[in-house]
Parts: sequence; structure tokens; C-alpha cells
Amino acid sequence: MTTATKAINVFIADPLSEDGIFPLRQEQDLDLNIIVDTGLAPEELIAKIADVDVLLVRSQTTVTREVIEAAKNLKLIGRAGVGVDNIDLTAATEHGIIVVNAPDGNTNSAAEHTIAMMTSLARHIPQAFNTLKNGKWDRKSYVGVELKNKTLGVVGFGRIGVEVAYRAKGQRMNVMAYDPFLTDERAKELGVTKSTVEEICAAADFITVHTPLLPETRNLINKEKFAMMKDGVRIINCARGGIINEDDLYDAIVAGKVAGAALDVFVTEPATDHKLLTLPQVIATPHLGASTIEAQESVAVDVSNDIIKFYKTGTVTNP
Ligand code: NAD
Ligand code: MLT
Repeated sequence: MTTATKAINVFIADPLSEDGIFPLRQEQDLDLNIIVDTGLAPEELIAKIADVDVLLVRSQTTVTREVIEAAKNLKLIGRAGVGVDNIDLTAATEHGIIVVNAPDGNTNSAAEHTIAMMTSLARHIPQAFNTLKNGKWDRKSYVGVELKNKTLGVVGFGRIGVEVAYRAKGQRMNVMAYDPFLTDERAKELGVTKSTVEEICAAADFITVHTPLLPETRNLINKEKFAMMKDGVRIINCARGGIINEDDLYDAIVAGKVAGAALDVFVTEPATDHKLLTLPQVIATPHLGASTIEAQESVAVDVSNDIIKFYKTGTVTNP
């Protein structure tokens, strides 16, 4: 007599690289039922999740307590990316649901995007392009600054922060770094000056943040920190909206303290109607840090493999 086993329902709620989920599609030993249903409103996701075993998301879908409580069979949430701030981890833990992420797959892309944003900010590339597209050959308004010999302050010196520092040194910038786990030896090895946030504020020409969004990092850069900064400092945030207080940043730009800001992330996304976007000193992208073919394939492969590993061995690589 054979016992019929139930298929494992894998629900993909955000657009993921088709090449990246190839490990799931070609898996032979497990009976995976892959459902791709993206762009759902919260109540639509809740209505569809009762029988789901594995939920796979990127950053668009917010996995709330309500979603978790409606998911009676849920065993694992896979996050194709780094930040898990879109998942209610407390509710997941209470329900015995494992959350896995893909911490390495988009590091390079996010670091490259940060450098692109810093360079664009220094040379007004988006503003100048926009003017030219509108038929105006304006060379006077867009005199920029060089990166060479400027000081970059990196707040949060993990995977992306370190990669940004490597690249900034390639631009011959001096790099200061703050991270609670940065040792003197590691700073020396990487050729950066180990600093406090306050020291960075006092000395940096450019400041870029690369921490997770946590209670301790929310509003880490606020009006008190802006007051400590050099006049004409430039700010980059390709990490998470909220690490830099948006109202305080707006005020510091309007006051002339901050010369410009490059933002990939916002407290509330999508952020199409944001007061920071009304300022000519602000350049922005719609959360594109990890949006490359390579990164999207890599993060989706990593979470796909972790799902398979979980069902085959009961363990995961990136809990
Ligand atoms: P990571 O975990 O490797 O590094 C984060 C670092 O922040 C760690 O070294 C940690 O010690 C440090 N940190 C924690 N609390 C801190 C504090 N209070 N002050 C200073 N440092 C602190 O993460 P990562 O892969 O480097 O990612 C960094 C950020 O970038 C995350 O917020 C992630 O979600 C975000 N991210 C954004 C994009 C994008 O598309 N824009 C892409 C990838 C990652
Ligand atoms: C991340 O945390 O990995 C990034 O925000 C990229 C994404 O949107 O997945």
C-alpha cells in the first residue's frame, strides 16, 4: 500500500528571477507545487495563504502578523535579499516558522549602486541629463566636486559597507568607518580609519549608511548629527529608509548644511510623492540597489537552495 504525500506548496509573492528559481523547478526528489502570484494586496495574500508551506518574497510584500496567522501550514519564509524588515520576525518565531534570507547575493550590486549614486551626486549627472533632455545646454549650473582626496564616512561596515570602501579607495578617497563590530586589526587590514559616528560627522565630505533598519539604527542620522557635520556634506542612503531621518534631512538641505543627497530607499515605498523629491539637491532611484540580473539570480538561487536543504535535511544555511 502506498501512502499519498501532500505536495509542498511554494508561494512566490514577489517577482523573482526565473533562472534563480531554477533549482526549485528542476527538483526531482521533493514534490514541489510552485505558485507564482505577485503584486497581491495584503487581503488577497491572506486569502490565498492558508495552504502554503513556503512563502518566498523580495521586499515588496510585507509579511505581517495577519499573513502569518492566516498561513496555517507555513513552515518557512524565504527572503530573496538581505533585509528582513518586511517580515514580522516576532510573529514568525511565535508560530515556529523559519525565516531564511540571501545575505551575499546582492552585495556587489548594492555597493556598485552606492558608488554610482555618490558619483552622480558629486557631478549632478541626473539633473544635467534632465536639463539636456529638455533642450537646454547648461554647463554653468552643474559644476561638481571631485571624489579624489575627499573623505567618505561609512556607517555600518558589513558586507556592503566594506565593498563600498574598497571602491571608494579606488577613487582615492579617504575612508572612515563605524561599525560596533569593527576591530582595529580589520580597519588596518582594509586601510580605513576606525571612527565613531560623531567623528565621521565632524570630518566626512560624503556619508553613506549601510546598517540594517533596527530600533537602534532608526533615525541614526538625525538633526543632532546633521548639526555636527561639515557644511556642504553629501549624504547617500542605499540601505533602508528611516536610518536617516527624512524630515531632518529635508531641513538640513533647505538650510544649506547638506549640499545634496542620493537616496535609493525611503521610509514608505513606493515614494513617488515625497517632499525630498521636490528638492533639486536630491537625486533618487526607486530601490534599485539590488536590481541587476546577476544579483536577482544569485539571491533567488540561494533561497531556493535553502528551501530544498530544509526539506531534505531539516537545516538551513541562512536562518
Ligand atoms: P550586513 O549585515 O552585512 O552589514 C550590516 C552592518 O551594520 C553589520 O556589520 C552590523 O554590525 C552593522 N550595524 C548594526 N547596527 C549598527 C549600528 N547601530 N551602527 C552602525 N553599524 C551597525 O548587511 P549588508 O548586506 O551590508 O546590508 C546593509 C544594508 O543594505 C541593509 O539594510 C540591507 O537591507 C540594505 N540593502 C539594500 C539594498 C538595496 O536594494 N538598496 C540591497 C542590499 C542590501
Ligand atoms: C535587500 O535588502 O536585499 C534589498 O532591499 C534588495 C531587495 O529589494 O530585495
